[in-house]
Amino acid sequence: MSAVIAIDGTFASGKGTVGKRVAEHYGFGYLDTGKLYRAVAHAMLTAGADLTDAGQAAEAAKTLDPKSLSNPALKSGDVGAAASKIAVHTPVRAALLKFQRDFASAPGGAVLDGRDIGTVICPDADVKLYVDARPLVRAERRFKELSGYGEDTSLDTVFAQLRERDHRDKSRAQAPLKAADDAHLLDTSDLDIETAVNAAVAIIDAVLAR
Ligand code: C5P
Repeated sequence: MSAVIAIDGTFASGKGTVGKRVAEHYGFGYLDTGKLYRAVAHAMLTAGADLTDAGQAAEAAKTLDPKSLSNPALKSGDVGAAASKIAVHTPVRAALLKFQRDFASAPGGAVLDGRDIGTVICPDADVKLYVDARPLVRAERRFKELSGYGEDTSLDTVFAQLRERDHRDKSRAQAPLKAADDAHLLDTSDLDIETAVNAAVAIIDAVLAR
């Protein structure tokens, strides 16, 4: 079986964990597209560049080395916040489009997670999921995760960053975060990982069986 599964959702909604596990379940490739934006942001921060400089950010996107996607530094809260700032630039998004579409069309099936997969990158995906959870639940999850990486932060800080990130991602002019009209909603607020993955697989199986 081969299919393209598009997973979008908010910061710390569980979309990454669900995406990875769903890909394993079906034996499909998995791409966390947030890492592309994080890698561009990391290159900009390392160069001491101005994140509002669309031209320089686009250049960093065009010259992105896929090997840099495994850099653990991309996981930090600061890089995530910077990613959402460079993600507003249209030329940055354009430069990252082909890599994502090529990944989606590779043989063997693909799961991509991000903010605009079902709406812009793969509008014809076989199945679309939109994953969300209550803001405080998401902040608690991300706080735990960042603390686990040894990052010195607080729940209040993470909650404030989440509010800011949600707002920026949903209100930007280009490819704003929103559920595609044909997306299936999955609220993970009261679900553990196992239950959330099972719920996603049940939705996907039902859609693919049609
Ligand atoms: O998912 P993650 O937190 O790693 O994404 C970091 C940022 O990258 C998001 O807040 C968003 O602004 C941007 N992004 C995007 N489109 C995607 C994936 C991520 O704009 N498909």
